[in-house]
Amino acid sequence: MITTVTLNPCIDKTVTIDGFTYGGMNRIIDSRIDPSGKGINVAIAYSQLGGQALCTGINYRINGDLIEQRLDRAGIAHDFVTVKGEVRVNHKVYDRSTQVVTELNESGHMTDADALVELKDKLMAHCRDSDILVLSGSAPRGVSTTIYRELLQTVSGLPIKTVLDAEGELLLHGLEGKPYIIKPNLFELETALDIKITSHQDIIKAAKVFLYKGVKIICVSLGGQGAIIIDENNGYYAPALKVDVKGTTGAGDSIIAGFCLAMIEGLNLKDMLRYGVAAATASIIREGTLMCTREDFQKILPQVKVEKLL
Ligand SMILES: Nc1ncnc2c1ncn2[C@@H]1O[C@H](COP(=O)(O)OP(=O)(O)OP(=O)(O)O)[C@@H](O)[C@H]1O
Ligand SMILES: [Mg+2]
Repeated sequence: MITTVTLNPCIDKTVTIDGFTYGGMNRIIDSRIDPSGKGINVAIAYSQLGGQALCTGINYRINGDLIEQRLDRAGIAHDFVTVKGEVRVNHKVYDRSTQVVTELNESGHMTDADALVELKDKLMAHCRDSDILVLSGSAPRGVSTTIYRELLQTVSGLPIKTVLDAEGELLLHGLEGKPYIIKPNLFELETALDIKITSHQDIIKAAKVFLYKGVKIICVSLGGQGAIIIDENNGYYAPALKVDVKGTTGAGDSIIAGFCLAMIEGLNLKDMLRYGVAAATASIIREGTLMCTREDFQKILPQVKVEKLL
């Protein structure tokens, strides 16, 4: 069983237009909404791979029901702290004539300090029954960038593995809570350490900085180049599979779902990477926000090749 935390859920509203006119009137020809959030996506991907997940975090009185209905439809348990306000909306304008997407994302806002106290209580309760805790995604404005460190410290006495997928200050402060795994992408890694990465050797060097800080496993995802995973003793690289990419949204969330499945099955580092990349690949071959299916994951898994780096 995994528990995922989403501090900043969102509703992705995608509108399709035919030829964008800047400063003019654009007629919408199609529109859809996808309640979402990184922790929510990890839970959905993990449950589609056959695992059991629970979602917690912050949710809002207005439109929060859309988030919960999506989880209900997916058969995923949820127990959010509900605060006043409205779920933020990420507007995506898809221009069919040029196939270009323009995004207008709200950042979210939350100032209810009691909600975070309540969240820590919920986390303690759910983490007693969970094997893995996944903390991922952004935090709304008004929430301290030390929040992931605080949440990690809240559960530090429990026998639970923790995964942190965040960027910037949230990641840097989060490291002080000694997460078991982190999964920056290349940009997040470069930003966190203020370095430029040009080779796999650079990634190995950077990973050592995190190992020194107490992280046990570092996965650096490289988008269309694949992913690298490193622990104290070993390092592996899995090149990306050449597939017909239909939508990369949720690729990072799916790689984490794959890691969780591998950990639940007690697999080693190399197989964790295989599982992660297979799950991510199984997600990107599906349109939009659709996540991996177990069937595709199983088909793809034998095709993932892994090279030893150290
Ligand atoms: N274009 C692609 N072709 C093949 N595989 C891909 C592609 N993009 C992503 N992947 C797979 O998905 C994994 C995760 O992708 P990526 O590194 O883009 O994560 P991310 O930047 O964290 O994404 P997210 O925006 O979901 O947080 C990669 O390691 C790779 O295995
Ligand atoms: Mg990511």
